[in-house]
Amino acid sequence: MRKKIVAGNWKMNKTLPEAKQLIQELLSKVNTENKVEVYIAPSFVNLPEAVEQTKNSDIKVAAQNMHFEDSGAYTGEVSADMLKAIGVDKVILGHSERRAYFNETDEMLQKKAHKAYEKQMMNIFCVGEKLEDRQAGKHFEVVKSQLENALFSLPMQAYKNIVIAYEPVWAIGTGETASPEQAQEMHKFIRETLAKKYGRDLADNVRILYGGSVKPGNAKEIFSQPDVDGGLIGGASLDADSFNAIIEAAKN
Ligand code: 13P
Repeated sequence: MRKKIVAGNWKMNKTLPEAKQLIQELLSKVNTENKVEVYIAPSFVNLPEAVEQTKNSDIKVAAQNMHFEDSGAYTGEVSADMLKAIGVDKVILGHSERRAYFNETDEMLQKKAHKAYEKQMMNIFCVGEKLEDRQAGKHFEVVKSQLENALFSLPMQAYKNIVIAYEPVWAIGTGETASPEQAQEMHKFIRETLAKKYGRDLADNVRILYGGSVKPGNAKEIFSQPDVDGGLIGGASLDADSFNAIIEAAKN
């Protein structure tokens, strides 16, 4: 049984006081009943406070990015060791916004994925096609190459700490969601791709999240698909009631 995950990617939202307030509200509302894993990914500057506030709770904290080197002359970047030193051992890598606006390539993401493995950090690795890829019928090909290029040089044991997030770019922040069938079809494809490379056992144990305009109103239907193991939530994770409603939808 793969336990579902609901992860909130806060992106570049929430000042420190706003973040504290949202976490406070989440702590008072969220009850995972041990049925679902819940993560939040605030911005770097709010991570220490988020770790402190959530330390005796079921809410775990992830970073939204990290660099692939241990240290050095990389102005503005944050390393795995810096994250681990403040108690953060989970990181979102390869988000489409990082790929599109900050020129992250498969090559860089491969280095980041290896660094996450070396540092024993959970890697929430994002893949997903653009609208033009889907319209050209290339969505499977694009997602497969994202997986192969960034992750397939990793050994099997790395996958104990890898979660894949399928986020079709055309569904992020647009209010447009992949249909439950489209999500299932791609998740199954991702699982089959993993199975061909690493074997069925491994593929059956990797959690694959869906991301892209998940809301309280559509979460249950998407999460009920057999290969969808939860969600990576953007906009709807910025409000405690809607994030909690999505967590509730992931419980059974
Ligand atoms: P939205 O839920 O706002 O569409 O964002 C999804 C996402 O990018 C999560 O990483």
